[in-house]
Amino acid sequence: MSKSSQSFTCSSCGAAHRKWAGRCDACGAWNSIVEEAPLSAGPKALGAKGRTIALTDLATEEAAPPRASSGIEEFDRVLGGGLVPASAILVGGDPGIGKSTLLLQAAASFARHGVKCLYISGEEASAQVRMRAQRLGLTDAPVALGAETNLRDILTTLDAERPGLAIIDSIQTMWLDTVEAAPGSVSQVRAAAHELVTFAKKRGVAIILVGHVTKDGQIAGPRVVEHMVDTVLYFEGERGHQFRILRAVKNRFGPADEIGVFEMTGGGLSQVLNPSALFLSERGQASPGSAVFAGIEGTRPVLTEIQALVAPSPLGTPRRTVVGLDSGRLSTILAVLEARCGIPFTGLDVFLNVAGGMRVTEPAADLAVAAALVSAREDVAIPAETVLFGEISLSGALRPVGQTENRLKEAAKLGFSQAIAPSRSKLVAVEGMSVREMPDLTAFVGDMFGAG
Ligand code: TYD
Ligand code: MG
Repeated sequence: MSKSSQSFTCSSCGAAHRKWAGRCDACGAWNSIVEEAPLSAGPKALGAKGRTIALTDLATEEAAPPRASSGIEEFDRVLGGGLVPASAILVGGDPGIGKSTLLLQAAASFARHGVKCLYISGEEASAQVRMRAQRLGLTDAPVALGAETNLRDILTTLDAERPGLAIIDSIQTMWLDTVEAAPGSVSQVRAAAHELVTFAKKRGVAIILVGHVTKDGQIAGPRVVEHMVDTVLYFEGERGHQFRILRAVKNRFGPADEIGVFEMTGGGLSQVLNPSALFLSERGQASPGSAVFAGIEGTRPVLTEIQALVAPSPLGTPRRTVVGLDSGRLSTILAVLEARCGIPFTGLDVFLNVAGGMRVTEPAADLAVAAALVSAREDVAIPAETVLFGEISLSGALRPVGQTENRLKEAAKLGFSQAIAPSRSKLVAVEGMSVREMPDLTAFVGDMFGAG
């Protein structure tokens, strides 16, 4: 291979580089740039002239894609209301989190609803997959199994079988004989994904690709595949918890940020239709350091408990430990509490946690976080019937957030009777809920905890 035909790609973000470097300029990842053969030598090298393609205009009416339902409500919701034919979906997640389990269950469910399903495992033998199916009680579902890693053979099989849905577990084990690289390398993963996605579009077969990602994205792959597929779902959860969350991070056919909640049981994953009740189930009496946040995930309200612990620190630099929230956000809220409300956290260790292994990314959680922190520090419990939401600005003002009605309704449904919200929230009266509006954090702290 001549030197000029070689290129370098960041395995984390997929950016192309002319030469090797220790750090990717595009995403800042260290030691992620790898050498690879380019996919194509460019149009010049093709020689022969291309054909003109048929063009259409924007006005042509396009019917909404008919969606196939899996019958697993949480799974369908994350897909945006069911499986779109000829779409390509990536399901990423840590090894061992339950991707194969989820997809085998989904395949069985789709098959029972009349979708022809093919499940290709590159990691396990057919017997192993069958054993799992037995354990999950899925043996009666008409799913066709295959154990193969050679993509040429897989595509030939898919072309002959023409299923409605093909599941490829996992993309890292697939290899093309035309690419001179080991399976799992960026060039193999990218070429294999490209082939499969192109096949999906051309032949009208929906394809689900499974991809392993480690927390720091070290293992090659899924990040470069993200750009090629229509939908990217991440399956996440804390190892110690039985809850698993399927989150849509990209969706060309539905809302992103939608979540589906599952519970890992001895008999596989079972869906959790009312996550709020589950996340609050371990909550006992009102105790200091606990605040209930009325959040929105995608199109659905989800209530979570934010827990804080504040204790004198034996260390010169006190600890700031966060699980399930952004640690930068904690620093900001601590700074605002100190600067605007005169509540310092110097010399104090701060531990912040979302109960149940949930991850909260909404800025609307700020007020509940601040409430939990002050409640822990002052050792004063927030009334048990109270939920909170609101974004905190650097000035200490509280900013209104969207979908207040959904938040309040969900809170009322779960037996809460009081909400604390920013002033100027577009409030709609919800039966059984009284709302206290607060202009800023100082007013809130004064009202809830005395002078602060
Ligand atoms: P798996 O689907 O193999 O994970 P992945 O494909 O993401 O690597 O799931 C593996 C874990 O799930 C394993 O640690 C055992 C657990 N598990 C259960 O708890 N119950 C079950 O019914 C099944 C099939 C797996
Ligand atoms: Mg697996």
